[in-house]
Amino acid sequence: MRRLFPVTDPTLSAAADREWTFDELAEAYAYPAPGEWDDGRWLRANMVSSLDGAAQHEGRSQSLSSAADMRIFGTLRALADAVVVGAETVRLEGYRPARARDAFAARRAAAGQSPAPVIAVVSASLELDLTAPLFTAPLVPTLVLTGAAAPPERIAAARKAGAEVLIAGDGARVDPARAVRELAERGLVRLLTEGGPRLLGQFVAAGVLDEMCLTVSPTLTAGSAQRVASGPAVAVPERFALASLLERDGFLFTRYRRVRSIG
Ligand SMILES: NC(=O)c1ccc[n+]([C@@H]2O[C@H](COP(=O)([O-])OP(=O)(O)OC[C@H]3O[C@@H](n4cnc5c(N)ncnc54)[C@H](OP(=O)(O)O)[C@@H]3O)[C@@H](O)[C@H]2O)c1
Repeated sequence: MRRLFPVTDPTLSAAADREWTFDELAEAYAYPAPGEWDDGRWLRANMVSSLDGAAQHEGRSQSLSSAADMRIFGTLRALADAVVVGAETVRLEGYRPARARDAFAARRAAAGQSPAPVIAVVSASLELDLTAPLFTAPLVPTLVLTGAAAPPERIAAARKAGAEVLIAGDGARVDPARAVRELAERGLVRLLTEGGPRLLGQFVAAGVLDEMCLTVSPTLTAGSAQRVASGPAVAVPERFALASLLERDGFLFTRYRRVRSIG
């Protein structure tokens, strides 16, 4: 791993290219201090895209990823209070509960965090496999965010399976800004969303995304895959500023912060 931006090693030599420890990654990706947050929480997204903008290949993102990408993925999870994810990603990627990792145990304890982040699934249908480990064996109960008009029998089934169901919308659907507020009110303020593109598009459109960690994968897929954020376009593109840029094996690990969140 080499840091390309900000430039701390002017030679950027091959000798500087090595795997970073989890401590180094945790420092590099630390959430900003609460004083820098808008609205008492920070929402970061972590996504991977091919060079031609694909967010998935054959229905999953794995083939776009790399070992270093997965290391950063794990680090970002380990820094978060909650991981917010759309139900389709849970279904297609076979989401499992987040693990408690030794490398981050002391850091999480010092920050007053549970041993692993909460997984918060956003769903209107609640068509979720409630027999999966995500619901039957999490370290911390999985949250389900849904709308007030979601099927009551599915809400009851999710609660019976051990999930905590939070209502974050007046109709069947979740209001993305309200979802973020509901999580923050429960003390889940360091938020990470792993998409998918339909959910991320709504966070973007609602203007609640503070930071975008985008891995540029040196792959080309063609085809008609989604981009990392989809859905209705925003009226005016929101400006983000580069906060850091890492590279390993040709993968670029970008980190952008919303301009109005800076300074
Ligand atoms: N490249 C990457 O970094 C990355 C990251 C994640 C996922 N992916 C890929 O993206 C694909 C899945 O993403 P996706 O965009 O199709 O789906 P998604 O955003 O993961 O999930 C969409 C589902 O989430 C629920 N949902 C979203 N917004 C909602 C709202 N406002 N209220 C209530 N429920 C809401 C709905 O679930 P119900 O249908 O249950 O109502 C909806 O069908 C997969 O192929 C995955 O591999 C790529």
